[in-house]
Amino acid sequence: MDDDALRAWSVSVRYPGQPEPALADVSLSIGPQALTVALGPSGCGKTTLLNVLAGFVPPSQGRVTLAGAPITGPGADRAVVFQHDALLPWLDVRDNVAFALELQGVGRRERHARAEALLAEVGLAHAARQPVWTLSGGMRQRVGIARALASPSRALLMDEPFGALDAFTREQMQTLLLEVWRHSGRRIFLITHDIEEALFLATELVLMSPGPGRIVERIEPGFSRRWLAGEPVRALKSDPAFIALREHLLDTLARHRQANDKETA
Ligand SMILES: Nc1ncnc2c1ncn2[C@@H]1O[C@H](COP(=O)(O)OP(=O)(O)OP(=O)(O)O)[C@@H](O)[C@H]1O
Ligand SMILES: [Mg+2]
Repeated sequence: MDDDALRAWSVSVRYPGQPEPALADVSLSIGPQALTVALGPSGCGKTTLLNVLAGFVPPSQGRVTLAGAPITGPGADRAVVFQHDALLPWLDVRDNVAFALELQGVGRRERHARAEALLAEVGLAHAARQPVWTLSGGMRQRVGIARALASPSRALLMDEPFGALDAFTREQMQTLLLEVWRHSGRRIFLITHDIEEALFLATELVLMSPGPGRIVERIEPGFSRRWLAGEPVRALKSDPAFIALREHLLDTLARHRQANDKETA
């Protein structure tokens, strides 16, 4: 057992007025080196699971812990990157990143220096003084990642961070994320409904299905470590092992969808 893990223990969540649980008996262990990806169709409880790990939503049953300590609410040890970035429009790029440092009481000069270093890490050194409304979608998400890195977090929780980006920018962001993962040494929990993104990034991939939201399969793809070891991204995504897993996941999703359709018919 990994003592430093971020863990969900048989977590169920039932929202008031909903006929069935949004999550039923979900267990997950995210170790300090993990890049755990939750993949699944709309409504299968991905965001609910992230919100439970973040401490925004309390489980109706079960519990969540970080390094053995119970999670009872949001905390600076878990930084969230939202699907729709939550940048502050009245601050420039650098001050958006420095905001988390200001909350920690870091002095002005130091927080600017640290924010600039984090922006360099996500390839945005040149944009530090730009107003956020001048940024493209991909740049905005990079500011969101830099801001999450500015907190003293031990985990980054990311809800569909690249969902709104075009395929090319998305691939660039995936490799940027792997660099950030390697350099920052922080575990990541990421949600996506893009099968290739999930397969490429995950050290552990959990496949979820709705009705009630649950984990139906777990695999350990291993392509992200191969990319970090120097294999090209396109070669990995066209590797027969990658394609076989992609087709397997598509099949599994289709089977669960059929089973759910029959139940509700
Ligand atoms: N605050 C809430 N109150 C009531 N029901 C909710 C609430 N949040 C989510 N739900 C319901 O719980 C289920 C799971 O929702 P959730 O947002 O976790 O799914 P998701 O997998 O993130 O979907 P998507 O891919 O569309 O973002 C859905 O049926 C949703 O309607
Ligand atoms: Mg969601």
